[in-house]
Amino acid sequence: MEQTFLMVKPDGVQRGLIGEIVSRFEKKGLQLVAAKFMLVSRELAERHYAEHEGKPFYPPLLDFITSGPVFAMVWQGDHVIALTRALIGKTDARDAAPGTIRSDFAVHTNFNLIHGSDSPENAEREINLFFEQKELVAYEKSI
Ligand code: CMP
Repeated sequence: MEQTFLMVKPDGVQRGLIGEIVSRFEKKGLQLVAAKFMLVSRELAERHYAEHEGKPFYPPLLDFITSGPVFAMVWQGDHVIALTRALIGKTDARDAAPGTIRSDFAVHTNFNLIHGSDSPENAEREINLFFEQKELVAYEKSI
């Protein structure tokens, strides 16, 4: 069973889209195993986005992700990384397929509403950055 880290970014929180976004993953049939409404510290933001250090969008990205609360989550299911990335859509909203979260609700790459892990390695790293293992709730999903 695969797990992934998803985070509604400050723009999604400010626009009141937490429920809409969570609902899409629930309706897909994926399993929520952890969630946290929180502020991201500068240090956590730097660690989370370490792979982008040096890129032109890195400083504004850090400013943005620390600008207000986020809704951090862990979801689980078969192929959950590929499935959630398909539901989220491409990073640039102009390229996101109709019906995806970013196509439906986002305009700008810098304000693209949600982060989703792009590989099993990054999922494990990001889950461990934002959550302690004891915060992940183990339960049977019957349907
Ligand atoms: P995210 O999935 O959180 O990963 C890195 C973020 O940087 C990305 O979503 C965008 O919000 C932001 N970003 C801004 N410009 C770019 C870019 N040119 N390429 C990739 N990500 C970008």
